[in-house]
Amino acid sequence: MNHSALETGGPFAHEIARLFWIFAGIATAVYLIVIAVLVFSLWRRRPANAAPADVASPMALRVIGGSLALTGIILVGWALADFFGNRALTNVPPEALRIRVTAHQWWWEVEYLDAIAQDRVTTANHLVIPTGKSVLLELRSRDVIHSFWVPSLNGKKDLLPGYTTQLALIAARAGQYRGECAEFCGYQHAHMSIDLTAATPGEFERWLQGQRASAAEPTDDLQRRGRDVFLGSTCRACHAIQGTIAAARLGPNLTHVASRPRIAAGAIPNDVGHMAAWITDPQSIKPGTKMPATKLSGQDLLALANYLGSLK
Ligand code: CUA
Repeated sequence: MNHSALETGGPFAHEIARLFWIFAGIATAVYLIVIAVLVFSLWRRRPANAAPADVASPMALRVIGGSLALTGIILVGWALADFFGNRALTNVPPEALRIRVTAHQWWWEVEYLDAIAQDRVTTANHLVIPTGKSVLLELRSRDVIHSFWVPSLNGKKDLLPGYTTQLALIAARAGQYRGECAEFCGYQHAHMSIDLTAATPGEFERWLQGQRASAAEPTDDLQRRGRDVFLGSTCRACHAIQGTIAAARLGPNLTHVASRPRIAAGAIPNDVGHMAAWITDPQSIKPGTKMPATKLSGQDLLALANYLGSLK
């Protein structure tokens, strides 16, 4: 799906697109009328030596009065359209699915809140929502101001340190949507994408159940070695893999990292080769990233990338 506010995938974005077309349509009409009147008056201009026109003639006053009235009517109409459009955007049913999105320099932490602690799911840079259901995002930031923007589903909303904001999403149809951080937040602001998958409610429940599970056990020696490398190196100082002793929360939770469309907040595709490159030299892919380079032997690196690639 294109990254476009005019290619709408749900009612909120539809409301914004409708407002855009109302404003753009009327503004275009006014512009064309003004230009037409200008061209007409140039064409009908008086000779240079003619007497000055009577600007207070009843006809001139009618034209000026009519134009002012029309301008007033358009402005009031726009204000009303804006008011009702905004009301439609903030109208969220209380039974909405709640997801907490925390912005970090430069990635998104996504938590599916649940009254039962074990049923909470933490993922990163990937948001999966059920189609046709109201979703309420609780937006927070760990460092600086960011802005969450999935243009096909709703407008932008800032994420502020120390304050929670909210944004509602409804995806009317299933599909892949793209989002970006829309507020300059430092060096890698441009590499702060989020992938959003709108799945049917059944698919969504299956996905959520899968994410609640602990990480897949290694199925061969290479993956087993990879897990040992992960747990024996600096990786677990920042990352968590549920089902292992790694439980740090500084970086993305990697329990099901292989299920995500992209890694490094959309900077690179999610496959074993890119994962290995990212682990070895993250600064060359995303200069300034908080992820440090990890020195590993070729075999250890291959094993680690394969293990992470098995965490569906
Ligand atoms: Cu986060 Cu820009």
